[in-house]
Amino acid sequence: AKFDGVIGINIGKNKITPLEKGKDDYLFCLNKAYNYADYITVNISSPNTPDLRQLQYGDYFDDLLQSIKQRQKVLAEQYNKYVPIAVKIAPDLSESELVQIADTLLRHQMDGVIATNTTISRNNVTGLKNAEQQGGLSGKPLQQKSTEIIRRLHQELKGQIPIIGSGGIDGVQNAQEKIEAGAELLQVYSGLIYHGPSLVKELVKAIK
Ligand SMILES: Cc1cc2nc3c(=O)[nH]c(=O)nc-3n(C[C@H](O)[C@H](O)[C@H](O)COP(=O)(O)O)c2cc1C
Repeated sequence: AKFDGVIGINIGKNKITPLEKGKDDYLFCLNKAYNYADYITVNISSPNTPDLRQLQYGDYFDDLLQSIKQRQKVLAEQYNKYVPIAVKIAPDLSESELVQIADTLLRHQMDGVIATNTTISRNNVTGLKNAEQQGGLSGKPLQQKSTEIIRRLHQELKGQIPIIGSGGIDGVQNAQEKIEAGAELLQVYSGLIYHGPSLVKELVKAIK
């Protein structure tokens, strides 16, 4: 039976691949995933792969996006279909890093940006039992932070690249806040664990 839904495929580099060769992993995955995806996400923001987030900056980022866009063009001709490619960014960015990322996204005309992945910050959970565990933190403690990144990113992108909002969405009100900050689409992960799939229906019905 034909699947009636949207399939987004997220690609990243292997843990053991050195940063300088990271690009090859992305291109390998892009080749493999392209024909099966409705959209593809370039994940450069997982805190669980050491050094991965370095790909968000400077020449690495520029070079990565250029190669990916080039390959997308080739694949679009080969399969006779254009699969949009979004970039997923971290919330732990300085003002100047964010501005530079926005500039690079625009320069390469990326099809979307997902803001944001999990945070390495423990600011909103200090003193809690498991606060010092390693890895990316999602859900409530990330909610405001990701919304602020969306707001700032939107000021830079000015609607030229759609923003997919992600981070602590668990109800209509904070989902709406992300839309008002500039997100055109939303991504929900942790909220599904606490509220189940009906959360999606609730959001789709209520969001303006
Ligand atoms: C255990 C876990 C695994 C995740 N794996 C991925 C992943 O493979 N690719 C990705 O782009 N984001 C991944 N994320 C990030 C989520 O998709 C989401 O962007 C983030 O958790 C913030 O949204 P939330 O607060 O709704 O969970 C992961 C998050 C968690 C908690």
